[in-house]
Amino acid sequence: MTHFFGSFKYSLATLTTVLILFVFPGCQSETLKGEEQAILTHAPAVPSPITRNYPTKVIIELETTEVVRRLADGVDYTFWTFGGEVPGKFIRVREGDQVEFHLNNHPDSKMPHNIDLHAVTGPGGGAASSFTAPGKGTVFSFAALNPGLYVYHCATAPVGMHIANGMYGLILVEPKEGLPPVDQEYYVMQSEFYTHGAYGEAGLQPFDMGKAILETPDYVVFNGSVGSTTGDKALTAKVGDKIRLFIGNGGPNLVSSFHVIGEIFDLVNTEGGSVQNKNVQTTLVPAGGSSIVEFTVDVPGTFIIVDHSIFRAFNKGALAMLTVTGDAVPEIYSGLQAESVYLPEGGGIQGLSGSTPNAFVAKTMDERIAEGGRIFAANCAACHQAAGQGIPGVFPPLAGSDFLMSDPARAAGAVINGLSGPIEVNGVAYNGVMPGVKLSDEQVANVLTYVMNSFGNKGTEMTPSQVANVRAGH
Ligand code: CU
Repeated sequence: MTHFFGSFKYSLATLTTVLILFVFPGCQSETLKGEEQAILTHAPAVPSPITRNYPTKVIIELETTEVVRRLADGVDYTFWTFGGEVPGKFIRVREGDQVEFHLNNHPDSKMPHNIDLHAVTGPGGGAASSFTAPGKGTVFSFAALNPGLYVYHCATAPVGMHIANGMYGLILVEPKEGLPPVDQEYYVMQSEFYTHGAYGEAGLQPFDMGKAILETPDYVVFNGSVGSTTGDKALTAKVGDKIRLFIGNGGPNLVSSFHVIGEIFDLVNTEGGSVQNKNVQTTLVPAGGSSIVEFTVDVPGTFIIVDHSIFRAFNKGALAMLTVTGDAVPEIYSGLQAESVYLPEGGGIQGLSGSTPNAFVAKTMDERIAEGGRIFAANCAACHQAAGQGIPGVFPPLAGSDFLMSDPARAAGAVINGLSGPIEVNGVAYNGVMPGVKLSDEQVANVLTYVMNSFGNKGTEMTPSQVANVRAGH
């Protein structure tokens, strides 16, 4: 009897709750209080976490502009922007907020623009109400119903072109209960650029519609340009910090395989939503989508952030850095403990010295340079880059390199035996590891002659016999 009565009480309670929710859905919602102006930030900064425990009316002002900015060293591009930079400014609101959105198009713009925020429930995500001609402003309002990290972008025709030119950013709708506190929050957004010239070709590069339709970008970058977040512009943290990255992918075409080399994401809010995955190496970020990743940095060092579709990282610019400072923690990572020579029977560098049957032998310096260019593309360009410009802070430049040009024999030694430890190139310190390359004397002579006479370098010819001398240790 008792048992029956208990079940009956439970059922009645459940039924009552269901009835209340069904008849009075508004009971669950909070009352809007006051209003405030949103503070927006440029990448990689993120606005401070929301501390209020009630929804408010949030006023957002965002300006569209068309500006010429650096895309890579020596390469400029006319970016179309939300807030003057690519990606667009980061917006942070709270679940339940009423957002009053003011979109202003600068009078100098040549194009009309609008905004489609994926956080909006309504036609076009706001695009239908925000078409804004140059020198005009529009206003629309929406309720931030669903918590999550959302992409926004321009949706004015031709839509692909407006996005390809840089018109995207992120809006975070914080859940009512807030996000757990962390030590550092950063904003990182990937996107591609389609330029008339190939990667690294100097000058102001116009947009190439043909390449965009074929989805063959020349540049894949984080935060709007090659090297935007490397060297002294790297993200920073201290050993022990808990990091949260708000990651977006503006596309317009490619899906990102987002990865931090030497870290494991403790938590991932997959696709920027509410489902959490744990212990993730690489998270997929769709075009027009996002991800929130969290991890604690346990050891010091430079952690390279890449799209693990890896040619994009080393040949198209999709490379950023997180610099972690603090004391080493050898229990977690020892660093290099030992190094020795390893020469298996009949193998190693000696076996490659001299010429092989049918090997190419250059008869003139021009032939040497032409063959050297092919060897460079196959063996050297991935790190030192196609135009010899290197990657700031990681791979030293060969173009205009005092280290290279002042001592060709030393350069030959580096190619033959590899080079590690601290060096200085044009006043900048590098401390990397270059592996020795398995090339014959003829091939080393060709590639060095090419490098010493390319990228603006003016040098002499290096001959196979000079290389043989270096290899012999003379
Ligand atoms: Cu636009």
